[in-house]
Order: sequence, then structure tokens, then C-alpha cells
Amino acid sequence: MQNNVRPETMERITTKALADAFIAEQVKAVREQVGDKKVLLALSGGVDSSVVAALLIKAIGKQLVCVHVNHGLMRKGESEQVIEVFGKELDANLIYIDATDRFLDLLKGVSEPERKRKIIGAEFIKVFDEEAAKLEGIEFLAQGTIYPDILESDGVKAHHNVGGLPEDMAMELVEPVKLLYKDEVRVVGEALGLPHAMVYRQPFPGPGLGVRCLGAITRDRLNALREADAILREEFDKCGLAEKVWQYFIAVPDFKSVGVRNDKRYEGWPAIIRAVNTTDAMSATIEEIPYAVLHHITDRITHEVEGINRVLLDLTPKPIGTIEWE
Ligand code: XMP
Repeated sequence: MQNNVRPETMERITTKALADAFIAEQVKAVREQVGDKKVLLALSGGVDSSVVAALLIKAIGKQLVCVHVNHGLMRKGESEQVIEVFGKELDANLIYIDATDRFLDLLKGVSEPERKRKIIGAEFIKVFDEEAAKLEGIEFLAQGTIYPDILESDGVKAHHNVGGLPEDMAMELVEPVKLLYKDEVRVVGEALGLPHAMVYRQPFPGPGLGVRCLGAITRDRLNALREADAILREEFDKCGLAEKVWQYFIAVPDFKSVGVRNDKRYEGWPAIIRAVNTTDAMSATIEEIPYAVLHHITDRITHEVEGINRVLLDLTPKPIGTIEWE
């Protein structure tokens, strides 16, 4: 049984030198724990699982099997980045599963938010399980558990997270960053050479765009959401807001309004911008976005994204609005 308590003497990892020392220590520990056996990891592309993957690749190379399940609810370019960074640059043993159709077929016509979450979570485990069953000789399961997960829950990655895997998987856990706080995980990730954008990625809910394509998800509205969200991220990057704002995204409700495009009636969905700051996600304040930036984003989204004809700004703090709309 590994220790789940962070020793008081453990120094906060804030520099590359401290990160390198931590990495060297963990590489040794992982090699001792795993020997020549194989380790399985669900690699979502989020900060924690990405850092664990990079660390384990350094420690045990191809003995690590990464499985990336694309549930079709990823943001634009995210699965591609996982393939590029882990499959190509780090030459990982990466299994990529495009399960988009499975997820979207199951979600068809389902409008209740918690039901959507349950379907996504359960299907994720199913796809991952099916893949694990095809592999031979896997004795370890790696997880991106971090210290706040241990402090806040029962030590297993929070269950509302997609990637929370069944407890009855008969595999020993490998959790190399479980005593680290989020800021330390990021420092370690950079020391491992992961791209800055991946390591400093804003939080993204496990059910992904599924809880931002409000109500019953349709492929055309999901696509519109993904494109509008990509434009928002691009513009926030350009004007420096990306570094300042804790979480920002687009939500697209399932109703249309009347508009005009190319002198013709054009019915479309509104894209709702949400940009919030918080420290713990329990409460949140609204980031003030300069009007010029808002006008530019509105212009781009309404001209470039098929199906969107209005852009709205959500000014509601938490409480009373939650950060996500669903
Ligand atoms: P709310 O909407 O509750 O969100 O104010 C607080 C934070 O949690 C994220 N969030 C989720 N993360 N699975 C996740 O992994 C979920 O189902 C989920 N719902 C909300 C949200 O993005 C915000 O950062």
C-alpha cells in the first residue's frame, strides 16, 4: 500500500531543478514497482493524464499502453494534439479510438443534463474496458490522481470525471503524481517537455462539449459549438485573455432566432460566451472583456460558423449561475 499522505517536509515543486529531481525519483520508483510488466493509461489529453503519460514514457517507454478515447465531444484539435504529441513526438504506444458515433448515437434525443453525463461516463468506461480486454499481460493501471483528488475524495479520481474507472479492475495502481498539487504537476509537465498549451490548459469537464451543446445534442449544433469555441480560444490567445481568465467557453442552446445573412432570412442558434475567474470553482466572478474584442469575436463567429447568427455574453457570477450551463 503506497502512502497517500504528503510528508510535511516535501518541498513545493516550483522550479525546473526541483521538477527534474522529482522526475528522477519517480522514474526510479515506477521502474521498481512495474519491473518488466505492462501499464495501461486512459489518456484524455488533460493536464494530469498527459503528465503521467510523459513521466511513464520516460520511465518505461513502450511498456506503457496509452488509450485515448475520442468521445466526439472534444474541443477542436484536441484529439489531434494527443496523437501528435504522444503518438508521434514521444513515440508512445498509443491506441486511438474514435468512438464518436457510439457516443452521439446513445445521446440522440437525450436532453436531461445528468442523464447525458451518466451516458457519457458509462460509455467511456465501456469503451475503455473493451479495449483493455483486448490487451494481454497488463498488470498495472496508471492514473492521473493528484493530491487534491485524495484530499477531496476517497483517493480515486473523482467519479464525476470521465476517466473515473471502475474499481473492480484487477490491476495495481500506478499514480506517480498523487502527492502533487496542480501547479506542481504543471511544472513537472514542462520539465518533461510537454507543450506549454497542454500543460497550462484550462479546466475542461469530462463530458466535454456534451454539457455545452445544451439539451439534446445534434451533430450540426455540436459542430457549430466546436467551431465557435475554437474562435473564442484563438481570439483570447491573441489578446492575452487566455493567460488571465480561468475558464472560458461557448455554450449553444437548442433554439433558433431569426436573422439575416446575404439579404436572406437566416435562422440560427446563439453562441453564448462565458468567461469566469475563480480559485476553487465553488464561486466565480465574471471577467471583463473589452468591447472591441467582443465585437471582433462576434463578427468572426457570425460570419465563419455555419448555423450561428447571434453572439451573447453571460454576465452571471457563481452563485447564482454555475460555471457550466448544464
Ligand atoms: P459548475 O458548472 O458546477 O462547474 O460551476 C465547476 C467546475 O467543474 C467543471 N465541471 C465538470 N467537470 N465533469 C467534470 O470533470 C463534469 O461533469 C463537470 N461539470 C462541471 C466545470 O467545467 C467547472 O470548471
